[in-house]
Amino acid sequence: MKLTAKSVSRVALVSTLVAATAGAAVLVAAPASGAASTLAAAAQQSGRYFGTAVAAGRLGDSTYTGILSREFDMVTAENEMKMDATEPNQNQFSYGNADRIVNHARNQGKRVRGHALAWHSQQPGWMQRMEGSALRQAMLNHVTKVASYYRGKIYAWDVVNEAFEDGSSGARRNSNLQRTGNDWIEAAFRAARAADPGAKLCYNDYNTDNWSHAKTQAVYRMVQDFKSRGVPIDCVGFQAHFNSGNPVPSNYHTTLQNFANLGVDVQITELDIEGSGSTQAQQYQGVTQACMAVSRCTGITVWGIRDSDSWRSYGTPLLFDNYGNKKAAYTSVLNVLNSGTGSTGPTTTSSSPNPGGCTATYSEGEKWSDRFNGNVTVTGTNNWIVTVTVSTPQKIIATWNTSPSWDSTGNVMTARPNGNGNTFGFTVMHNGNWTWPTVSCRVA
Ligand code: XIL
Repeated sequence: MKLTAKSVSRVALVSTLVAATAGAAVLVAAPASGAASTLAAAAQQSGRYFGTAVAAGRLGDSTYTGILSREFDMVTAENEMKMDATEPNQNQFSYGNADRIVNHARNQGKRVRGHALAWHSQQPGWMQRMEGSALRQAMLNHVTKVASYYRGKIYAWDVVNEAFEDGSSGARRNSNLQRTGNDWIEAAFRAARAADPGAKLCYNDYNTDNWSHAKTQAVYRMVQDFKSRGVPIDCVGFQAHFNSGNPVPSNYHTTLQNFANLGVDVQITELDIEGSGSTQAQQYQGVTQACMAVSRCTGITVWGIRDSDSWRSYGTPLLFDNYGNKKAAYTSVLNVLNSGTGSTGPTTTSSSPNPGGCTATYSEGEKWSDRFNGNVTVTGTNNWIVTVTVSTPQKIIATWNTSPSWDSTGNVMTARPNGNGNTFGFTVMHNGNWTWPTVSCRVA
């Protein structure tokens, strides 16, 4: 196998042949199923869900509930199931607003993610003042009571939220719950399992997106340890609150895949990305592609509906504008969900044969955190010209078994045989875009 490595700048400079498409065979096979027109329907095509955070106080707003009904099939209470809301006084439980959200969702056939049973933040005042074994008991009582109350109605519970420190320490966050003893997290999971055996039990956190960060590694080791000791954990939630200071990492897919490989589901639980226009749309696309590429990434939840509903509305981080119109980010997410790209999609695409012509079939090769390989097999002729088109900002950085040339953008590669038969391959730096290359074939 002859490997022709090219630097990205070299590829961009090569400006020889613009691929002639006239007479070229047309690409036919693509997504697993036809295009759907809502986020939920598009996600369902690959067995995933698409959810949103809901605030009880907005359920009287018909624009809000209209989009909720139409677009989403999973609901998380934005604040109403947290400890301060459900147990305002010790051992006196209050479910009014939480029930409003749960009933609204379930009456429309939507599922519910429970958020959150144990957390250092948004604790009721009485709990904030507690320490030691009294707090441990109160926490376990809370987990048991709330999870029992909702038994059978919750798809997945965020049992413990945000228990790790930011930065390079990889340590647990110093909270009153942590000070009850390092085993507080597994104790919470065991109590939740006993209370609602049918709910998936998740650990949920933020700043755990970049695989090389200490916090990500620390959470990974905890989940690994829990799995090895039989602590009941089923899923890991990635909050995914992004902005320019905390952008979507290029190794996001690697992070999700590595956690999934521990034998847990992964979910994107509170997605919002500050920004606007195509920059924001591209980041949303990257996150959606990362989830679609991991078969155990079971769904995505955005943290609110319209920008004006967001806890960080100044950053316009959501998929609908203040008036409920779809943003560019909405379209990019919908398109990825519809593309079937990812492990549950097809593994090959073919161009249709022209009479007396040729067929080029693309198949996925190896994947790494920053790049992937693609292979193309040609049938029908030994004298072919195959056009391979990648999507910005992807770049082809290497090829084998072909003599390639590029158009001026570097996105369109024209491949001809180099005497090694009818199969060739190439390596694509994905730069956050996991869309499959398209291939078409014509007889030279
Ligand atoms: C936020 C809510 O959106 C706000 O309304 C509230 O004032 C604070 O909490 N991580 C979480 C969520 O797990 O519960 C937080 O939600 C956002 C960060």
